[in-house]
Amino acid sequence: MKIAVTGKGGVGKTTISSLIARRLAEKDYKVLAIDADADANFASALGIDIKEHNIQPISKMDELIEEKMGAGENLGQGLYTLNPFVGDVPERFSIPHKGVDFLAVGTITKGGAGCYCADNKMLKRLLNHIVLQRQEAVIIDMEAGLEHLSRGTAKGIDGFIVVVEPGQRSIETALNVKKMAGDIGIQKVYAIANKVRSEEELRLIEESLEDIELLTHIPYSSSISTADLKGVSPADTPEEELVLTVDSIIEKINVRGN
Ligand SMILES: Nc1ncnc2c1ncn2[C@@H]1O[C@H](COP(=O)(O)OP(=O)(O)O)[C@@H](O)[C@H]1O
Ligand SMILES: [Mg+2]
Repeated sequence: MKIAVTGKGGVGKTTISSLIARRLAEKDYKVLAIDADADANFASALGIDIKEHNIQPISKMDELIEEKMGAGENLGQGLYTLNPFVGDVPERFSIPHKGVDFLAVGTITKGGAGCYCADNKMLKRLLNHIVLQRQEAVIIDMEAGLEHLSRGTAKGIDGFIVVVEPGQRSIETALNVKKMAGDIGIQKVYAIANKVRSEEELRLIEESLEDIELLTHIPYSSSISTADLKGVSPADTPEEELVLTVDSIIEKINVRGN
């Protein structure tokens, strides 16, 4: 099962990604959790002690990129190995925690027009490998821009989730994501409405989502906000209701994934 979670900043992508990843691990799935967001806090949301680990995204590991992509002097000139072997990267750099292997891959560097920077190539190649070649369940926490997903990678994603909250801005982002997803061949985009406080809010979200299917909604949750306040994982102390909702997300993606 390969799940990508996207949406506007602050809507709850990282929270929901960590709940899904930790729940899959509880269900004995082998899980790879990927942080591909500039706002890189998936590790702490999973409950990893970030003071204990010096977490650096793969896209910033210059020596590794050089090792994989080609000789140093070529790097500035766009001359790279086209298909570097990246299959060892998850094992070499992931951090295990409570049944989840965590890997920070980083984000696309926005270079000049037509930038073919080695770090970007490497990141795309790595994500392609992770989505298409890995056997375990993969959860990717990522930003709303989809630059790091190639058409080939997109094909391997079973559940492409965009998180929205009550508010038109996050819905605008979702509609944009849906358009970009279509451009790279992702047919089906699911929405999760998060931080919902009333029927009215849910109804307004439903009405605005156009043809994006609403998978489920997650109410505003005091266990989630308290966990963040204390700096612990929301997956350590979820309400029973929340666990059931996460189970329903997993089930729906399992059934409908292609
Ligand atoms: N259902 C919820 N109820 C209460 N607070 C939530 C809920 N979902 C997320 N939050 C809080 O909202 C903030 C942003 O969540 P986060 O997962 O970091 O968003 P994103 O990854 O999309 O930027 C955090 O403080 C988180 O604890
Ligand atoms: Mg986040």
